[in-house]
Amino acid sequence: MVYKHPSKSNIVILTGAGISAESGLSTFRDENGLWCQHRIEDVATPEGFRRDPQLVHRFYNQRRAQLKDVKPNAAHLALAEWERRWKEEERGNFLLVTQNVDDLHQRAGSRNIIALHGELLKARCSHTEKVMAWSEDLATDLPCACCGNPGAMRPHIVWFGEMPLEMETIYAALSECDMFVSIGTSGTVYPAAGFVMEARRNQKARTVEINLESSGSPYFHEVFEGKASQLVPNLANSIS
Ligand code: APR
Repeated sequence: MVYKHPSKSNIVILTGAGISAESGLSTFRDENGLWCQHRIEDVATPEGFRRDPQLVHRFYNQRRAQLKDVKPNAAHLALAEWERRWKEEERGNFLLVTQNVDDLHQRAGSRNIIALHGELLKARCSHTEKVMAWSEDLATDLPCACCGNPGAMRPHIVWFGEMPLEMETIYAALSECDMFVSIGTSGTVYPAAGFVMEARRNQKARTVEINLESSGSPYFHEVFEGKASQLVPNLANSIS
């Protein structure tokens, strides 16, 4: 299948944990996924953080430390190369929206990224909301790098019940896109799970899903089942 794109064509990509699975990072809902090992309400809600901040810090400290041991895979690299080519040929906008909080897209070379669920390598001052780059452990007795109060820094992660980041920019891009590609997400968590429907509102968008197994959403024109590390380079190379 070769997609012949008009000279100007805007692309929006959505990725989930499945794109990082082959780099060695756990997904959430697969067998032995993160939500099999931890209760969401304990480690991914503001209430859980208030109840036991040290448990939450341990959960994110372990995931942050793991980033040193993994690297981008062929799927991350193919998206970065596609974006680079799109920019070089002035073919239109290319936006990568990721639900992932790892840094693999950034390390692969993707530039125009929105991490709508936050990032493991950032921390936030609970008093000023200031976001800071942060690659070390967080702890309840750690003086905040912003306000100095011990324990005031929290992971810059969007927890359940909190508002994902840069939603206006995302919806504007979806309303203008010619192609929407969803990669490695179960499509179970909103608002990201609704992005394909948003893209379909503008009749011109072609919608494509790449996933180990189809999420079952009826809004995709094409669904490719298999591993992202094989299917994403295939798709990127088929776009001219
Ligand atoms: N290639 C392609 N897809 C894969 C691969 C792979 N190698 N391995 C797994 N997948 C698919 C699975 O089939 C599954 O549909 O990736 C998807 C992962 O789904 P989830 O574990 O639910 O992860 P995700 O969709 O990113 O979760 C969304 O839920 O808990 C919140 O904030 C968390 O951002 C996360 C959100």
